[in-house]
Amino acid sequence: MNPESGSDPCLLVIFGASGDLTRRKLVPALYDLHRRGELPERFAVLGVSRSDLGDDGFRQRMREACEKHDDFDAETWASFEPKLFYQAGDGADFDQFEPIRLRIVEMSADLQTGQNLLFYLSVAPHLYEPVITNLGASGLITEGKRWCSLHREQLPWQRIIVEKPFGSDLESAARLNRVLGRTFDEEAVYRIDHYLGKETVQNIAVFRFANAIFEPLWNRQYVHNVQITAAETVGMENRGGYYDRSGALRDMIQSHLLQLMATVAMESPNSFEAEDLRTEQRKLLRAVRPIHKEDVPDVAVRGRYGPGEMDGQSVPGYMKEPGVPEDSDTESYAAMRLHIDNWRWHGVPFYLRTGKRMRRKLTQIVIYFQPTPHCLFTEPDTGGPTGELNPNRLVINVQPDEGISLRFEGKVPGQRLKIRSAVMDFDYAAQFGGHAPEAYAHLLLDAMRGDRSLFKDRHEVEAAWRTVMPVLD
Ligand code: BG6
Repeated sequence: MNPESGSDPCLLVIFGASGDLTRRKLVPALYDLHRRGELPERFAVLGVSRSDLGDDGFRQRMREACEKHDDFDAETWASFEPKLFYQAGDGADFDQFEPIRLRIVEMSADLQTGQNLLFYLSVAPHLYEPVITNLGASGLITEGKRWCSLHREQLPWQRIIVEKPFGSDLESAARLNRVLGRTFDEEAVYRIDHYLGKETVQNIAVFRFANAIFEPLWNRQYVHNVQITAAETVGMENRGGYYDRSGALRDMIQSHLLQLMATVAMESPNSFEAEDLRTEQRKLLRAVRPIHKEDVPDVAVRGRYGPGEMDGQSVPGYMKEPGVPEDSDTESYAAMRLHIDNWRWHGVPFYLRTGKRMRRKLTQIVIYFQPTPHCLFTEPDTGGPTGELNPNRLVINVQPDEGISLRFEGKVPGQRLKIRSAVMDFDYAAQFGGHAPEAYAHLLLDAMRGDRSLFKDRHEVEAAWRTVMPVLD
């Protein structure tokens, strides 16, 4: 175990290694972990996909991807590159799995990674099931707890990280859970939602439960409504094939936004351990009031972007994006109003909304507090209320400018009684400095360490699908 990283030696096998995610997120995150000395000493990556690349071709591609990041430096890359390997093959095809299996066995022995295997499923969602089944049949997944009590020695572990989308509806998610369960123990399954790895999202729990002054206000008595927004400036980024089958509700609300809501609204967990956190988030999601089909038009809105200009460049409307079929019925904007039926939140609406090609990128959670019950202040001239009394507002900025601000009313200096809103600001970067690890770096390291607290369990995923199903239907 590397004392710095607290993780065992291991081989990370990425299925879908020639895809976008590996290039844009996974390998840059691993490079960043290497740069900070957080990877285990004996560690390697085996990229698997159908493209004919070879180790050198893969390394070259990954280098180009990492070079785009500010912290790239050639010397660090030279020490990282030998950890990257590539095997061409289709992990979903039983007949092509043997060479992949052999390479994994060989590399584990050569690199002395203790036969610990971390699989990453980053293939197209319809290939999840065959890849998992092939892994099950390969004999690579040896059963057993991490410690063998008889021999007092550590047995190798095998874990699997499953990328979103986790199913395309409740039925397919439940099926995927069953397929995973046939090969892996639930403790070995890491369902990733990269929003959980974002620093500010983790800070929501710290803000709520490491401070005594906010929690007493965090309920129906003081909160009027909660608004969770994830606005993006990007379009669907040449992901026509995936995105058009998904749409904003599946792509963002079912996963990331419901996750944010669960983090903001859950009860205090017994501890910050995976099991306790999962229990509270699952309970919260199960308390979301079911939406009746006849109510859908009142509680949900959808839309789609048309052509326009972004940063002075003209951009096509959704229907003209590559890969979008002419008769597409997919939304790129979705909004929902939800209620949570428990004592804390009864009667408090939660608004969730997300869209692509919005004016600016912004992910934030706004807690609107109840208005004052009575306005004391009057305008000396008119006798009417002075200025506008805005309700207090706590804004948790998830991105791009991570921070928290509280809006309250204050007196404008001067003879007359004028009231105006003022803001108390906490800026993450200014206060703590440094550069926070990328969400994927954080989550990959957690998976290597066997910490599941920022990953979802099967019941949470199914509860989130249950919430959006009537709208999807
Ligand atoms: C992904 C979605 O999960 O999250 C994308 O599939 C979306 O459509 C992305 O753009 C947003 O992530 P972030 O971290 O940029 O808010």
